[in-house]
Amino acid sequence: MSEFTNSSLKVLFSAAQVQERIQEMGARITRDYQGKSLALVCVLKGASLFTADLMRAIDLPLTVDFIAVSSYGAASKSSGEVRILKDLDTSLKGRDVLVVEDIVDTGLTLNYLLDNFRRRDAASVQVAALLDKPERRLATVDVAYIGFTIPNEFVVGYGLDYAERYRNLPFVAILQPND
Ligand code: IMP
Repeated sequence: MSEFTNSSLKVLFSAAQVQERIQEMGARITRDYQGKSLALVCVLKGASLFTADLMRAIDLPLTVDFIAVSSYGAASKSSGEVRILKDLDTSLKGRDVLVVEDIVDTGLTLNYLLDNFRRRDAASVQVAALLDKPERRLATVDVAYIGFTIPNEFVVGYGLDYAERYRNLPFVAILQPND
């Protein structure tokens, strides 16, 4: 991706649009999880900003925990095998788990995580993703809450990075190579 070394940003969703959508998602989750044992699981690092804002938009008692994963590299990427770099601190047994993701691209990471969490005896496991890039999907994943569906472009900002940069932008932008 060296073509991005000298690149420019094209805003896709402004900070205000992101915040407005998250309020809507939070209101829906609040309705859907009444009386349940809601456990948010933030997938680091990309979903950190989304989790921080989404949890404040949910008017329910809840817990939040964090997991960090990395894919095993190009060869096993297609198998969806991922390595857990930092596991959860708490048990999911009997909990209504809502996995909070930044973006669903191939779906391989999420597919692995959902399988992993279901084996921990959670009462239910659902997904909230800020962005969905359906054109690149390789694994079928059911995403209950989607912020925005986007075209097949590389995006940064609001937690999403390119080589660890841009995570701090309050908006979501397409990273365009300069020609
Ligand atoms: P998947 O396993 O292909 O669905 O990949 C998911 C992960 O890849 C996301 O959680 C992101 O961290 C990263 N990713 C996928 N697409 C983008 C993008 O457009 N910008 C930044 N990161 C991305």
